[in-house]
Amino acid sequence: MTQTTSLKPHLPTSYVLGRSDAETRRLMLQHQIYGPITRRLFEAAGIGAGMRVLDVGSGAGDVALLLAELVGPRGSVVGVDLNATILNTARARVDAAGWQNVTFRACDAHDLPPEQQFDAIVGRWVLMHTPDPVGLLRSLAPRLRPGGIIAFQDSDFTYPPRMYPPSELSAKVQRWGLPDPEAVPAAVRMNMGMRLFSAFQEAGLPAPELRLEAPVGGGADWPGYGYVAETLRSLLPMLERMTGLDPDEVQIDTLADRLREDAVSGGRVQMLPMVIGAWARTS
Ligand SMILES: C[S@@+](CC[C@H](N)C(=O)[O-])C[C@H]1O[C@@H](n2cnc3c(N)ncnc32)[C@H](O)[C@@H]1O
Repeated sequence: MTQTTSLKPHLPTSYVLGRSDAETRRLMLQHQIYGPITRRLFEAAGIGAGMRVLDVGSGAGDVALLLAELVGPRGSVVGVDLNATILNTARARVDAAGWQNVTFRACDAHDLPPEQQFDAIVGRWVLMHTPDPVGLLRSLAPRLRPGGIIAFQDSDFTYPPRMYPPSELSAKVQRWGLPDPEAVPAAVRMNMGMRLFSAFQEAGLPAPELRLEAPVGGGADWPGYGYVAETLRSLLPMLERMTGLDPDEVQIDTLADRLREDAVSGGRVQMLPMVIGAWARTS
């Protein structure tokens, strides 16, 4: 079953990574790399069979698909996203996987019907794109049943992807992807992962448990080179506008191959942005 509601005109539209098909593919590639980390977070938080879970900011549906596996056929997943178009991809993927207990709703997560209660509420890389993360957590809390689980995962992009041993190209990528904080739109919280601990408490939730992980890999088949290049591709229009980054200098179409060559020929490993998970149980 699928559900769609009309979007309200006041909804924020500050998603700096854009709304293109390329961004949808980037989200799926991102999940290929970070999915196991997210699964470990949800398992540590206690999400399991039979639970009703809300996925905030579902995007292309990767987290909802992961949750469907964890809660199984007796549980259910509701995914919400501001972007009605990307939810069509999420629905198609859920249908293809055969899950009948996963539904999506195009809406602002602030505007969920209050009567709906969940055993767990989760979100990955959504608070960093939200104008008021504490306000969003506060508005979600009443939708949790007593003793329910709240688990969010966000990165700290102020520690950007890097190669070891360092290289000229990886230093450039760090510089391109981490502009002067003054130049980044205020709506994007580059270090949201590290702010989760305080955000939970400011929203009236218990102090969360935390875990930090970062993907690291090397060799010709490591997907990190493509992930970094596709992320920069999605950010390019914003970086060009805000920081004057010159696309001719970046050469985005060959960046993944140049990073691969750089790593393989130099015996380097690439570390991707760290991700911080925070979870708590309400009383
Ligand atoms: C970086 S994507 C992450 C998608 C997905 N959680 C994942 O990990 O692949 C963030 C998504 O959050 C959505 N979003 C941002 N603020 C939202 C809000 N207030 N309510 C619902 N969705 C929101 C955006 O439209 C976008 O699709």
